[in-house]
Amino acid sequence: MTRLGVLVSGRGSNLGAILAACGGGGVDGEVVAVLANRECPALEIARQHGVSLIRVFGLAEHGDAAARDRAMAAALQRAGVDLVLCAGYDRILSDDFVRRFDGRILNVHPSLLPAYGGTMTAIADALAGGGAETGVTIHYVEPDTVDAGTIVAQAAVPIVPGDTVESLAERVHATEHRLFPEAIQAWIEGRLPQPAGMAPVPRERAGKPEDGE
Ligand code: GRF
Repeated sequence: MTRLGVLVSGRGSNLGAILAACGGGGVDGEVVAVLANRECPALEIARQHGVSLIRVFGLAEHGDAAARDRAMAAALQRAGVDLVLCAGYDRILSDDFVRRFDGRILNVHPSLLPAYGGTMTAIADALAGGGAETGVTIHYVEPDTVDAGTIVAQAAVPIVPGDTVESLAERVHATEHRLFPEAIQAWIEGRLPQPAGMAPVPRERAGKPEDGE
């Protein structure tokens, strides 16, 4: 069973969809860790599902983002996590973190990247942009990039007359909740491409802390 670690910062609807998908809904994985950068409703969802490792990695506790990320990566590796999922995680992961899980981090973004990347207001921006559609992208998180890693899945969501940010967001989120679990299962089955420029990583590297941790 593939061991999943989920990073969250907010509402946790994608976490809920992933947990449901792992409970017989098409993902052959188990959420073994839910880590957050602050207290947030997603943690309550994790508690309700009995996830074994649930932890907040606050910046104040760790001093700076790089130290926080080192501690998070070590916790994920101790938990034997194979695949890291950014499900509404609102911080940029340090390159050190990303390199430790190279090819093993997926993010969900609420737009058709590269459109409306690098912003927390992608849905509102797409609505204001006046186009006929927006959508959802699942991509690898890669070093030195923000919302620009190798894309592994996309789905369009039409923008219809009379849409508000709320009505559009509802359809975008429903699409996320279908597409993200599908992409996770595709990763588990080895059906996703490797990120561009990445050396193949031996599977047994996962879950092993670096020396000294
Ligand atoms: C989602 O729209 C996701 O695409 C973006 O942040 C939002 C998180 O929502 N990165 P939730 O916390 O999963 O409900």
